[in-house]
Amino acid sequence: MTASTPPRWTPDTWRACPIRQVPAYPDEAKLEAMERRIGRYPPLVFAGEARRLKAQLARAAEGRAFVLQGGDCAESFADFTANIIRDTFRVLLQMSVVLTFGASLPVVKMGRMAGQFAKPRSSDTETQGGVTLPSYRGDIVNGPEFTAEARTPDPARIEFGYFQSASTLNLLRAFASGGYADLHEVHRWNLDFVERSPLAGRYADLANRIDETLSFMTACGMTSETTRDMRETDFYISHEALLLPYEQAMTRVDSTTGDWYGCSAHFLWIGDRTRQPEGAHVEFMRGIKNPIGIKVGPTQESGDLLRILDTLNPENESGRITLISRMGADKVETTLPPLIRAVEREGHKVVWLCDAMHGNTVTTVANKLKTRNFDAILSEVRSFFDIHAAEGTWAGGVHVEMTGQEVTECTGGAHRLTESDLTERYETFCDPRLNAEQSLELAFLVAEELKQRRMPSAPMQAAAQ
Ligand code: PEP
Ligand code: CO
Repeated sequence: MTASTPPRWTPDTWRACPIRQVPAYPDEAKLEAMERRIGRYPPLVFAGEARRLKAQLARAAEGRAFVLQGGDCAESFADFTANIIRDTFRVLLQMSVVLTFGASLPVVKMGRMAGQFAKPRSSDTETQGGVTLPSYRGDIVNGPEFTAEARTPDPARIEFGYFQSASTLNLLRAFASGGYADLHEVHRWNLDFVERSPLAGRYADLANRIDETLSFMTACGMTSETTRDMRETDFYISHEALLLPYEQAMTRVDSTTGDWYGCSAHFLWIGDRTRQPEGAHVEFMRGIKNPIGIKVGPTQESGDLLRILDTLNPENESGRITLISRMGADKVETTLPPLIRAVEREGHKVVWLCDAMHGNTVTTVANKLKTRNFDAILSEVRSFFDIHAAEGTWAGGVHVEMTGQEVTECTGGAHRLTESDLTERYETFCDPRLNAEQSLELAFLVAEELKQRRMPSAPMQAAAQ
């Protein structure tokens, strides 16, 4: 780790750095006016909340917590309803209860929600029927419809994104603390799910044991009335910090510490396409004190990763950095271990998350739809656990693209969705998401893994020896 003094940082120093994935706004003045306007709006989150999340992530870095991060690939202005927010939140809570039981550890919950609007694209343009237009870059930039008007980046969308984020977060806060997240309720939803699942037999055992545990806790006097953690939960919001004019406009100085925070979300991450060590996105993230994520894909070199870590976390603060591995089931065994070893060798404290989605995207031959296969996703998660076990490091959590709706975007799962089923309810604006049932299945299967892996050193067994 280098000990040299970092160069001066202000919220706009990223502007002097090479940058990728920039929308071509036709009217710069309009964009600047919007940045000034958003800069005066209230923050969406408070620094103290981001610090609390960082402390919880520090526990995950030390193997004392597990992380669940999930939600839409891209939130949408068109699909903005209370039901969609509620259903995604509910499935995340359901997954989290199952994982808590499997890991026997607290689960830190982060939604890809309330601000996940900006999307990196592999090409700047898209051609259909001989017509070439700018690519869709997420609703905060332009519209998905294939017309010149929709595809022209419009700064007014930034303001809409801000207000939709505020409104989504407001509902999430109400759900998290207003009784909706009551553990008994969440468990009841899980029992319903298990009953309906073709794999009911497999999941019933775990669900029944959670049931018994809850009854035992009630008998001990730990009820929703007496215990806050039974009726409320901590839930954090996160998104890719891609659209830097917006992120800069949302930075605020925390009055208690004098530090800068990105106040568009508790947790922000750098995508796999914008993680260049000298690039604008790394530069922006350097100066904000939030906990941050870095996506690491198969092209990530360990030397570059170490440079990024030195830049973003010079003090090696635990909980500051989450590395989100998104290698692909067929590559993870060769690409992940060298990165883990490099990070370990240098003593960097990080949380490792497995994004088992982005390395497993394929396009179907028949209808040219992007999809992901449930078995490939599960296989990458299992390899991720195996690799960490072999390296002696902690597999800190999972990152998933999912929705609470019964969409048909990913193949496989207990209901055995096939490629020809995909057109039935294919609604994503970007990448294919696990539907509610597939998400819960994944949680049950990951919980099984977690449970098996902790058995050899489980405290009960150790005590019995
Ligand atoms: C995403 O998380 O939606 C995404 C684009 O991921 P990545 O940067 O890993 O490709
Ligand atoms: Co995605």
